[in-house]
Amino acid sequence: MSSRYDLFIRDLLSHPDVQELHRTTAHWRRDRFDHNYAVGQLSYRLATAFHANVVVAARAGFLHDWYHGHAPERQRFVNADQHHFRIAHQAASQYGEHPRILHAIRTHFWPWGRTLPKTREAWIVWMADNIIWLDDIWQSLKIVTRQGFGYFIFGNA
Ligand SMILES: [Fe+2]
Ligand SMILES: [Fe+2]
Repeated sequence: MSSRYDLFIRDLLSHPDVQELHRTTAHWRRDRFDHNYAVGQLSYRLATAFHANVVVAARAGFLHDWYHGHAPERQRFVNADQHHFRIAHQAASQYGEHPRILHAIRTHFWPWGRTLPKTREAWIVWMADNIIWLDDIWQSLKIVTRQGFGYFIFGNA
């Protein structure tokens, strides 16, 4: 059975390009789709607790890292204003997301992304992302240690 959170992002869950996020990783070894899903879910829960807009929080959280890799000029912090959130922002904008959702995507990388979150939902997504990436590292550590210490050191080689 779908949760209420799932209902808010139902159209996005079946979007082919969003599904493609399963093919990339976030924060070491976490599936990027799973990272986005977890951030959206926590954002949704925080929005409920803090009386924010649950649809904005759920969708912005789920779409905040909608990108498949960095463009070469965006890999380094030469220009922090051109980092990965720009790609996610553009994808969500092309999909027709609401400006409040786009703002939360744009600002989730603060302070590196320069622009300060200005809405309650944007702060919620920011907070959820920072909690979830710590969990991503923890989950990744469990994956690599399960695969053995040799894998931990040598990777796929
Ligand atoms: Fe991000
Ligand atoms: Fe993220």
